[in-house]
Amino acid sequence: MIDVALTGDALRTADVAIVIDVLRATSTAAQALGAGYRRVLCVGSIERARELRADGRVLAGERRCVMPAGFDQGNSPREALDRRGEELVLATTNGAPTIVAAAARAPTVLLACLLNLDAVVADLLRREEVHGADLQVVCSGTDGAVALEDVYLAGRLTARLRGPRTDAALVAEGVARAFPTPLDALAASADAGALNTAGLTADIAYCARESQLDVVPTVVSTSAGVAIVMRADSRGHARQSARSSR
Ligand code: MLT
Repeated sequence: MIDVALTGDALRTADVAIVIDVLRATSTAAQALGAGYRRVLCVGSIERARELRADGRVLAGERRCVMPAGFDQGNSPREALDRRGEELVLATTNGAPTIVAAAARAPTVLLACLLNLDAVVADLLRREEVHGADLQVVCSGTDGAVALEDVYLAGRLTARLRGPRTDAALVAEGVARAFPTPLDALAASADAGALNTAGLTADIAYCARESQLDVVPTVVSTSAGVAIVMRADSRGHARQSARSSR
């Protein structure tokens, strides 16, 4: 069954979870791996990110769209373009905690955004475990509420998958059809309003760019509240790293 969790609260156990936070956590994670970061360590809190501080690690994240004190950079995919270390530690309000929660409920967890839409669809169509599987696309949402841009992408994604779908997936596909371009959908969202207010308008257009990255961020393991994400691409799936997340 192809299902969509319209907010993170609707996350449930599934064979495969695809987590979405278009503005901006999954866009930043995909861009970081595309820029050459070896791993992205997603965490549920600012404090956990600070505990992970180590040589070669870059702390990225936000609270109310703004970089937390003591971090190296915000949650902007544009900042992730410039690789400043081996690993990006990512602490955000909704997206990163949803990734950690999904990793506890599904054996296969991928991260999707507009930047890697084609790559995620190709990866799902290739994976044998996906055919006939219970698959849930998880919209991170914003503080428990629906985020338009996440539902838009969920619908774009599920429309390209074969198989029976839930009403929530049909709702998402209807939302996707309602907007002529990705930028139209993102620009109409409340989260875009928050980014505009924070002076981060350029991130909206950046995150609306479709299928720029042949990168499928994949959770390879979890450890002490950290979901470790590595890239898979058209050459195959991510491999577990020997290094620990401490
Ligand atoms: C989140 O996880 O809530 C977002 O990615 C928020 C943001 O990017 O400002």
